[in-house]
Amino acid sequence: MIGGGYVGLVSGACLAAFGANVTVIEHDPARLDRLKTGTMPIYEPGLEELVAAQRQAGRLAFSGDLATALQKSRAVFIAVGTPTRRGSGHADLSYVHAAARAIATHAPDGLLIVTKSTVPVGTGRQVAAIVRQARPDLTFHIASNPEFLREGHAIADFMQPDRVIIGLEEQLGAPSTARTLLETLYAPLSGPEGRLLFMGLESAELTKYAANAFLAMKVTFANEMADLCEATGGQIADVTRGMGMDPRIGPHFLTPGPGYGGSCFPKDTQALATSARQAGTPTQLIETTIAANEARKRRLAERILALAGGDITRCTIAVLGLTFKAHTDDMRQAPALTILPLLHEAGATLRAHDPQGMETACTLLPKGITYTATPLQAAEGADMLLVLTEWPTFAALTPGQLAPRMRGRLVLDYRQIWRKDEWLEAGFHYHCLGSAP
Ligand code: UGA
Repeated sequence: MIGGGYVGLVSGACLAAFGANVTVIEHDPARLDRLKTGTMPIYEPGLEELVAAQRQAGRLAFSGDLATALQKSRAVFIAVGTPTRRGSGHADLSYVHAAARAIATHAPDGLLIVTKSTVPVGTGRQVAAIVRQARPDLTFHIASNPEFLREGHAIADFMQPDRVIIGLEEQLGAPSTARTLLETLYAPLSGPEGRLLFMGLESAELTKYAANAFLAMKVTFANEMADLCEATGGQIADVTRGMGMDPRIGPHFLTPGPGYGGSCFPKDTQALATSARQAGTPTQLIETTIAANEARKRRLAERILALAGGDITRCTIAVLGLTFKAHTDDMRQAPALTILPLLHEAGATLRAHDPQGMETACTLLPKGITYTATPLQAAEGADMLLVLTEWPTFAALTPGQLAPRMRGRLVLDYRQIWRKDEWLEAGFHYHCLGSAP
């Protein structure tokens, strides 16, 4: 498993739990040292315990030495980062290409090379071409096996997936060898009732992007319907419940929020839009989704300024939640990174708390924001409470706990974690998304 990042670590540990002997290759010495001492570089519930158990069982190891690991491997997974290239919507494939070159140098005959990183359509064939060019005589197989893990639920998502997508390349080597090996690796999910879905390489690569883009679009649709509900007296919770009971629509990913974020939806929508433009078939829906999501974050900041009467300079805002969603320490593309700088620039005093994200947040957000050890401390002297992440610890807070600490009485619950009537009874003004105040 090349890459000891989020995908590589979770996939490596879970494949070991399925019975494979896995070596996770990490090239960053500091990260490798941490992994070897059992310290996880990311926060993911259950991961540390799973890694420890698999290492103890002798099925999981960490190393920086790809050459040695490949000599005893039948399959290698590429699970390196594919960030958005600066200034363009392209996925940066330099790490994938570097991994392909390293594999080509050391691959034993018959190796199965699997891309697990999220990569644009066509990348599997590029990897094959790199290996073939470097080692024309090598027999190898190539597959695409994108992951659908959600941060915070990654282990359960891997162990009990809705489906495992496997794209195989028909031209290179015998596809049956690759298929059999992947069925063995995913043995607990194989069989007649299994969830393994085999298809061509391009289809597998596209499935990953299409799934994320569709979900991003669904969230964005819910956000727009929430705005419409607010303007017309509707209740988004009722509307989405009514929509979601139609099995063709489904109830999931219809909760309005401050805009989708994270390392996946923003990057993958950009990459899919770019691939589509390059292929001469631009995706208007995805392009619009990207623009609507960006605009939403800015508009929410403007809405908060308007609620402060246009002058926010004497306003103290308690910000509950910084990460892009709950159960993660991930700050990538978090709505807080757009909303808080705009409020700070307008002169607001910000006091923020997040159970996992503060360490990273303080390196990304403007200086002058106060980070507090508890959510209650964030509320000290605040005029407004602004909820940006749906952490359960925030949902458990009551007006009775917060009111005595606050100066003002305004709640902006942008994750719908509280019950409106409780706050109204306690004398607060309560704003949430998708319901007129
Ligand atoms: C997403 C996909 O859900 C995974 O299937 C996929 O494997 C992963 O990307 C990836 O490509 O690696 P993740 O980024 O962890 O997973 O986060 P989600 O739980 O999907 O949430 C994405 C964003 O949408 C978050 O900002 C979340 O707050 C927002 N969201 C989600 C809403 O605002 N409303 C919803 O109803 C659902």
